[in-house]
Amino acid sequence: MPRPWTIARRGEKRGQGRGRQAAEACGTAEAGQAVHPGEADEGKRRRSGERRRDTGQVNLRERIGALADTLAANGELTDEKWRAALHAVPRHLFAPAVAWAEPYAGPGYRIDRDIDASAWWDAVYADHPIITQLDDGATEVGGGEGVYSSSLSAPGVVVDFLELLSPYDGDRVLEIGTGTGWTAGLLSHRLGDGNVVSVEIDPAVHERAAASLKKAGFGPRLVLGDGADGWAEQAPYDRVHVTCGVREVPYAWVEQTRPGGAIVLPWMPGFEPGHKLWLTVGRDGTATGRFAGGAHYMMMRAQRVPAPPEHEGGYGRRAATVDPRRVLRAGLGADVAIAGCLPDVSASLGTGEEFEIWLWAGRSGAWITGSEVRQFGARNLWDEVEEAFFRWVEWGSPGRDRFGLTVTPDGQHLWLDRPDNVIP
Ligand SMILES: C[S@@+](CC[C@H](N)C(=O)[O-])C[C@H]1O[C@@H](n2cnc3c(N)ncnc32)[C@H](O)[C@@H]1O
Repeated sequence: MPRPWTIARRGEKRGQGRGRQAAEACGTAEAGQAVHPGEADEGKRRRSGERRRDTGQVNLRERIGALADTLAANGELTDEKWRAALHAVPRHLFAPAVAWAEPYAGPGYRIDRDIDASAWWDAVYADHPIITQLDDGATEVGGGEGVYSSSLSAPGVVVDFLELLSPYDGDRVLEIGTGTGWTAGLLSHRLGDGNVVSVEIDPAVHERAAASLKKAGFGPRLVLGDGADGWAEQAPYDRVHVTCGVREVPYAWVEQTRPGGAIVLPWMPGFEPGHKLWLTVGRDGTATGRFAGGAHYMMMRAQRVPAPPEHEGGYGRRAATVDPRRVLRAGLGADVAIAGCLPDVSASLGTGEEFEIWLWAGRSGAWITGSEVRQFGARNLWDEVEEAFFRWVEWGSPGRDRFGLTVTPDGQHLWLDRPDNVIP
């Protein structure tokens, strides 16, 4: 089976629209060869030792103000307190000198403050993510080729999530996935250092975040560890703010949140796209809530999409009974229903002219091109997807906002309309 391409590039995107489409916009193998305006001259400047003057600090207020206006125009920034935080915690203090800019439209490109300061400043104050680590640090980030493993999240995505989090003054917040530390800085400005704990799994990322936060004048509690365990030492929290994608919500977060408190996270099942999820913690030790829009983040390390199985043998072939495009483009409600019915199935869409999708779970796989279905292994994965799709049709084709998730000590349960109407 040819290997799906998107899993290698699964990064972080604005939560609007369909994650699969956003993931496609994330770039393909060509992205690393893209030339950004200004980059063509980079080699010349580098050879001659010439550097562009760093004038970025000039007009910093205007830069931040313009960014805030863009987020407000997009409907992501509505609360003046977060606008004030954007000014008080300048984003550039959290951007490394060399990184990979990842615009929503157009190819990604290397930024290097020493080589082209003006391009660096423009990228840092634009509304898109800056990739700050590849392959868990094994690959030099400026090349842009590899699995995105840490980033300075896009301002619109960050503010949108913070507005959903909506902490009250004095709330205690646990952030999962410190990354560059920018979000932890924004939270510290809003709530005070003593009310913010942030957990990061990668030692180098953790150290850089600590240095950046210090430089910016903030001192939240930074923990190096696996965020899946939360941080019991300073529990209970009023809010848990998760900034990496989660397929299975760890119960530790429920245990560490005060009853009535909330956990806000990007729920990213293997059957894409991802969805923002708001969970309220009840008195009975469970957390429940509905999906609240789209989300696309880098996955939590232990929950990354598994590699598709290698397959050399033949396939069981058949013609699709329903046009696969109808299943995949039926809407976000169908996506949630299929993901809920098939929690262990991963999917990846092709980017060519012809419709193409891969599915895999364990040693089973399916590869659908046009309306030709090829399946192998113990499970017929496309048959299972069709089955889940028709169940969704029988439920009356409900939209995403009618679905929710409950997290209990036994695991997570997807439901339709009411928490007691669990599917599948
Ligand atoms: C998208 S970045 C977070 C962006 C960040 N909040 C910011 O403000 O820049 C996701 C981060 O989650 C971290 N991460 C992944 N798995 C984790 C885990 N199990 N526990 C804690 N952090 C994790 C990654 O190393 C990465 O730095």
